[in-house]
Amino acid sequence: MGLVLGIETSCDETAAAVVDDQLAIRSSVVESSLEVHKDFGGVVPELAGRAHVATIGPVVRRALEEAGLDPLAPELDGIAVTSGPGLIGSLLVGLAAAKSYSLAWGTPYVGVNHLEGHLFAPMLEQPAMLWPVMTLLVSGGHSMIVLQHAAGRHEVLGETIDDAVGEAYDKVARWLGLGYPGGPVIDKMSMEGTAGSLPLPKSMTGVGLDFSFSGLKTAVVRGTEKRPDLSMSDVAASFQAAVCEQLLRKLRQAIDGREVQGIALAGGVAANSALRAGVTALADDYGIESHLPSMKMCTDNAAMIAAAGHYRLRHDGPSQLDLSALPNWQLADVR
Ligand code: KG4
Ligand code: ZN
Repeated sequence: MGLVLGIETSCDETAAAVVDDQLAIRSSVVESSLEVHKDFGGVVPELAGRAHVATIGPVVRRALEEAGLDPLAPELDGIAVTSGPGLIGSLLVGLAAAKSYSLAWGTPYVGVNHLEGHLFAPMLEQPAMLWPVMTLLVSGGHSMIVLQHAAGRHEVLGETIDDAVGEAYDKVARWLGLGYPGGPVIDKMSMEGTAGSLPLPKSMTGVGLDFSFSGLKTAVVRGTEKRPDLSMSDVAASFQAAVCEQLLRKLRQAIDGREVQGIALAGGVAANSALRAGVTALADDYGIESHLPSMKMCTDNAAMIAAAGHYRLRHDGPSQLDLSALPNWQLADVR
């Protein structure tokens, strides 16, 4: 199979990309409607959907042109579109676009799970990965430890029982009045602060591989109420250290006793500097590879959807035209 066009509209990014069967990226265009949501402290679904409607056509056109294809009749072998999980109204825009292109060009299309897309992101930059790989998939909506036996073959070993990591960052940032999204700001502020200035509880100390972040978030709120003298950067550094401690401890527990050749990070929170440093040190400690996607591969993009689409088209074949969006589609249900 040659070229696949990927389309991603599950949240606030409208993205399109063309990826070949060696997973080389021919083009990748991402437009974000984040500016529209900033004043609301989070993504407003209705506004995100409207932005996708206005942006999807031009974004797809640009992705095709930048890949050197005729935007009216591109020579593609497939179209891959995120069909879940995500915001229903946003997913439907991408899905309707993919079906229309599929009909107009006579090109097969396939619905792809957004989280499986994130799992393919590190492969776009490091195609020759040694398997199995233990992946920490951390974003604004999801936090999980996934054992990848090979590309497209994954097993969810643990996940958050309450907030996702990015969500906890965003909530703490909102509490501190730092705006949205909170992750990048807290990450930056942490560098100026001292971890441990604000004592925080250790969460999920048992043997299970699930995470919990809502207790930590509440502890930050209570702690800062009691210690108004603490600087914002000390609070940020303490929170970031506690989050990373839990994530890295669970990763270690997941790797112990399993034959693993590498550790990968995926999802928006994979951009976190402390987490990246921690995963690199962990992989060195085990003498295995670390796969840290570049910043643009951490956040939502369509190249990762096209990459997953190559695999799904080969293994499952195209989707039918009556496919609908699945806003709560679990990664564990993708086989
Ligand atoms: O994967 P993503 O772009 O969108 C979702 O599918 O959720 O992730 C966005 C999340 C936001 O919660 C944002 O605060 C967080 O990733 N994030 C970070 C950093 N950069 C983005 N969290 C911690 N540290 C960062 N540097
Ligand atoms: Zn995502």
